[in-house]
Parts: sequence; C-alpha cells; structure tokens
Amino acid sequence: MRRVVEARIGYPLPHLYDAIYSYKDYGADAARLTALIRARNPSARTLLDVACGTGKHLETLQGEFDVEGLDLDEGLLEVAGERLGDVPLQRGDMRDFDLGRRFAAVTCLFSAIGHMSDSGELDAAVATMARHLEPGGVLIVEPWLEPDVWIAGRLHLLTVDEPELKVARITVPEKHGITSVMNFHYLVATPEGVETHAERMEHGLFTKDEYRAAFERAGLTTEHDEEGLTGRGLWIGTAASAA
Ligand SMILES: C[S@@+](CC[C@H](N)C(=O)[O-])C[C@H]1O[C@@H](n2cnc3c(N)ncnc32)[C@H](O)[C@@H]1O
Repeated sequence: MRRVVEARIGYPLPHLYDAIYSYKDYGADAARLTALIRARNPSARTLLDVACGTGKHLETLQGEFDVEGLDLDEGLLEVAGERLGDVPLQRGDMRDFDLGRRFAAVTCLFSAIGHMSDSGELDAAVATMARHLEPGGVLIVEPWLEPDVWIAGRLHLLTVDEPELKVARITVPEKHGITSVMNFHYLVATPEGVETHAERMEHGLFTKDEYRAAFERAGLTTEHDEEGLTGRGLWIGTAASAA
C-alpha cells in the first residue's frame, strides 16, 4: 500500500516526532538548563516549558522542578500527555496566553520561537513569556537561525532506521526575505506499508539585535549565551527581584 498525504502547515506527523529527533540529547539539555537557571535563581522550583512539543524536556526537567507545558499543536500535546501522566499541559499560543500564575523559570526551546513570523510577533511572544515570570525568574529562549546563516537550496537528508520504522526526510530550503522555508518530503515505511508526506514550515529569521530588543522591551536583564544547547546559542532574561 502506498498513500500520498498532501502538504499542510504544522506538525502532521506527531507520532514520528520523537523518532525523527532521536539524535537530540534532552538529558544533557536539562542538566545545562538547570545549571543556567540555578545560577541566576538558586531557589527556583517551578518551570513552564512553552512550545513543549512531545514533552521530552519536561520529562528530563521534572526531577529538578515542578514542571508544566504549553503548546499550540494538539497532536504533539497528546504525545506529551501519554509521556508525562499528571504533568499539567495546556494548549495555547506563545504570542498570547495567560495561565494566571507565574513561574521561577520559563523555557522555549529547539527554536520554537522561529514560528514567529516578524519582529512584532517575536516581541509579543517574549513579552507573554516574561509576564509569566516570578520576581527574579529566568526566561531561556533557544533562537532560530540568523538571516545570514540560512542558505536556500542547501539540501538536507535525515533518516530513521528502526526495526519497524524507516523514514527518509529530505529538506529543500528556500529563503524569502526574513522567512526561511523548509519543504520537508517524507518517505515513511512500517510493516503496514509505505506513505509519503509533504510539509512546508516557515520560520522567522531574526538578528541578535532583534532578540535582544525583544527581551529588553519585556523588561528583562538580558544575556546571550554563545554555546547554547545545540550550537544556536541561548537568550537568557532575568526579571527584576521583588523590592
Ligand atoms: C521544533 S518544535 C520544539 C518542541 C520542543 N520544544 C522540543 O524541544 O522538542 C517547535 C514547537 O513549537 C510549537 N509551536 C509552534 N507555534 C507555536 C505557538 N504559536 N505557540 C506555542 N507553540 C507553538 C510546535 O507545535 C512545536 O511543538
């Protein structure tokens, strides 16, 4: 059986997300994030992961913090729910959500912030996340790539080779102004058959100045960590302590 699924925007293969990104070391990310948060807010207990996806950062951070997650994509939240049991998960948009409470740390990782399409949306997302910080709380955002780093036409191949799942994903990148476009073409094989999928994903390409300005406009003391988690750096903002 061979089935073709038409292109749509979003994450059409939530059940394959963890297999596709199995190269990521979420445990190492959690150790580094914990160190960065505790260096700025030693008594931090609560953490909200915005754009938590399938919840793998929450899974690895829950030994250190009381964690909660938020994401826009119902399919990914469903996978996170199966993984995390009782951990509170909400559906929401990072540009405009209000959970009615504040956290010692808020994270937004693996370049989810790239889903913002212009600097107005970037500002809105950073301000919304900053509003969820307690006094002295820490916001950590892993940025998407900067405009000069994104090269149109540089093809990329990712494969998954498990006993009952084979995936080949070819990415054909485009660049339109400050927007990167990833055209993903998937070939997915299981014992039940083979499917092809297509997915088009657009991300905003923001400069360091734009990230810094968004953090400063949100009232945060702002630092840039060059090393980061995956070579993309990290933006770290700390809210003012209570007087
Ligand atoms: C590359 S994934 C990262 C997921 C997770 N943070 C990780 O490290 O595996 C990007 C995530 O951003 C979420 N997302 C996209 N736009 C969003 C928005 N406006 N508000 C909240 N989440 C959003 C997607 O649903 C997806 O889970």
